[in-house]
Amino acid sequence: MDTPLLLFSTGKIGRLTLKNRLLMAPMVRNYADERGHMTPRYLAHLQRIACGGVGAMILEASYVSRDGRGFRNELGLHDDSVIPGLRQAAELLHAEDVRLGIQLFHAGRQTSIQVTGEQPVAPSAMPCPLMNELPRALSLAEIRNLVDAFGAAAARVQTAGLDFMEIHAAHGYLITQFLSPFSNRRTDGYGGSVEHRRRFLDEVISAVRARVGKDFPVTVRLSADEMVPGGLTPADTVELAAWLETRGIAAIHVSAGNYASYTRGYMIPPMAIEDAPLVKYAALIRERVKIPVIAVGKLRTPELAEAVLANGQADFIALGRELLADPDWPRKAQSAAADTIHKCIACNQGCISRLFDQRDVWCTVNPECGREREFAEHMRARKPYKLLIVGGGPAGMEAARYAAGAGLQVILCEAQAQLGGQLRAAGAAPYRPGWHQLQEDLQSSLQRLGVEVRLNTRVDRKYVEREKPFALIVASGAQPVRPQIPGVNDMYVFTARDVLEGHSTAVGSVLVAGGGCSGAQTAEYLARAGHTVTLIEAEGDIAADAPLDDRTLLIGRLRALKVNILSHTRLLSIENQVVHVAVDGENTQMAFDTVVLCLGARSENKLEHDVLGLVPHVFTVGDAVRPRKVTEAVTEGALAGLGVAKDSSREAATLVASA
Ligand SMILES: Cc1cc2nc3c(=O)[nH]c(=O)nc-3n(C[C@H](O)[C@H](O)[C@H](O)COP(=O)(O)O)c2cc1C
Ligand code: SF4
Repeated sequence: MDTPLLLFSTGKIGRLTLKNRLLMAPMVRNYADERGHMTPRYLAHLQRIACGGVGAMILEASYVSRDGRGFRNELGLHDDSVIPGLRQAAELLHAEDVRLGIQLFHAGRQTSIQVTGEQPVAPSAMPCPLMNELPRALSLAEIRNLVDAFGAAAARVQTAGLDFMEIHAAHGYLITQFLSPFSNRRTDGYGGSVEHRRRFLDEVISAVRARVGKDFPVTVRLSADEMVPGGLTPADTVELAAWLETRGIAAIHVSAGNYASYTRGYMIPPMAIEDAPLVKYAALIRERVKIPVIAVGKLRTPELAEAVLANGQADFIALGRELLADPDWPRKAQSAAADTIHKCIACNQGCISRLFDQRDVWCTVNPECGREREFAEHMRARKPYKLLIVGGGPAGMEAARYAAGAGLQVILCEAQAQLGGQLRAAGAAPYRPGWHQLQEDLQSSLQRLGVEVRLNTRVDRKYVEREKPFALIVASGAQPVRPQIPGVNDMYVFTARDVLEGHSTAVGSVLVAGGGCSGAQTAEYLARAGHTVTLIEAEGDIAADAPLDDRTLLIGRLRALKVNILSHTRLLSIENQVVHVAVDGENTQMAFDTVVLCLGARSENKLEHDVLGLVPHVFTVGDAVRPRKVTEAVTEGALAGLGVAKDSSREAATLVASA
């Protein structure tokens, strides 16, 4: 693609001029400290993104008072002690010619006592269907205090030298809870009519303006469609946006959904949702207002983002996960190198799933995300020492990418005829194109970096003895479990991996044993191929290990495909295509033409022990340690590649001498 012209034209948000039309979307990272302060880790991360060429960055939802904290290590704006850290961020970003904003936020009922230490508060005492904790209804005095807290937070933003701020009135947090009849059942001046429901936001805007003056750019983020019965609709939000324009708001940032509709997949669209699903809402609002409109949501490529501007659907583009995956997205787009962008694959494994578990944010396709300082250290190998990597799955390929990038001579051995490991089966399942994309990206990196790939190659102690590597990385993954039950080796019993990779072909009616995420996806794959499918799971929940939104969408599709789902059902034995199972402890039998096993995996790491004393440095990574998710495999692989590169740059001589 040629350089996208509109994306790289200057643009104005209020009095602020941005060097281009790209903003970083607000994303809580859980990188702040427990007092809500900026940390060195967070600063390094922000600076790395700023270097990639984005025009402005909106820092995450930052709580204006302690009872509004949504995540344990979220940024705060609740007292003056946060100012120095924010000032440092502003100075760093200004040096890169990037404008900085921040979200003013209160979680309301969409948080937990475990995070805030107290019962959540809300307009009305109604629990959020996802959090399921009963909040306390705010008194009038408490509402006044919260309005003041927003004003005081705004003053801190200005004092810290930031360029703009965004009021977070989206995603079902406190301000939306007031705006929406879905969560606001008050009968006083803050509930009922549209005017009453927006009164809290009105007072927040007045309090902010009173503290920062009338020219300081303030944007508002809205959920155009709450996607819940009785919630805010696009028609409601268009009118709200028009009113916000009259209240002096500088731009409207258009997202969608709240926690109750999170699993529909529009707030943070997963792999199974199409690209750019929210642009239509931005376009609707843009037709009604004259102030700039910011579009967001799975705008993964420069072509797509440019088209949104060219079609007049928005004025600015916010990139969220795209910048976690590749901070250089803007720079690469501008230099017509869009094909080298590491695209976010919308797996949601490293980022939002970890955040919802109250852990720090990673990125599956970019192990450097949140580890910028570690990866920035100089790590050129002193000589092209030989690194042998065993296993060409995500962990092995990522280790090879980092080590080869640092100048090591990398040999990657794979027992199968193809690279990819678990990515091959994962990407074959319906709605999972991202896994094949990751596989292709990794493979082309290895090719570019000159990694020697040896396929169909099993490595044992003798092989390692012959190769005499400086270091060995064992990334041999895990093999599907075949339980020790009668009939498990019959000719019509396959593993899910064999089926998805095309090594075995199911016929007729199929029983899929094992209802984890992989089992459920295999059932979907088979049902779409026209088989009658029954999925059994020994425990209660199907796909319990999948991200929340993926799980709900997947179960919905299984139902639509009429897959027969049986929970609490354990496989006992197989005999001439008759399957014996225990349903809630009661034995029964069913007939199937094919049985597909998806009962977990067992690590394969024998080599680690076999080479004891032979190689100075041995790392075992990914599923070879313990079967887990791709995000962990990739991260461990990258860290091992980095570790070997560092050792080779420091102590290689000693290590080789001792070999
Ligand atoms: C880890 C993570 C944290 C997020 N935190 C926020 C937040 O603090 N405030 C907000 O308005 N949206 C938040 N979002 C939503 C993003 O701003 C964005 O709207 C969404 O990810 C879709 O855009 P994308 O496809 O470019 O990532 C978050 C998303 C992710 C993945
Ligand atoms: S973890 Fe997955 S969804 Fe999240 S930013 Fe990285 S690639 Fe995208």
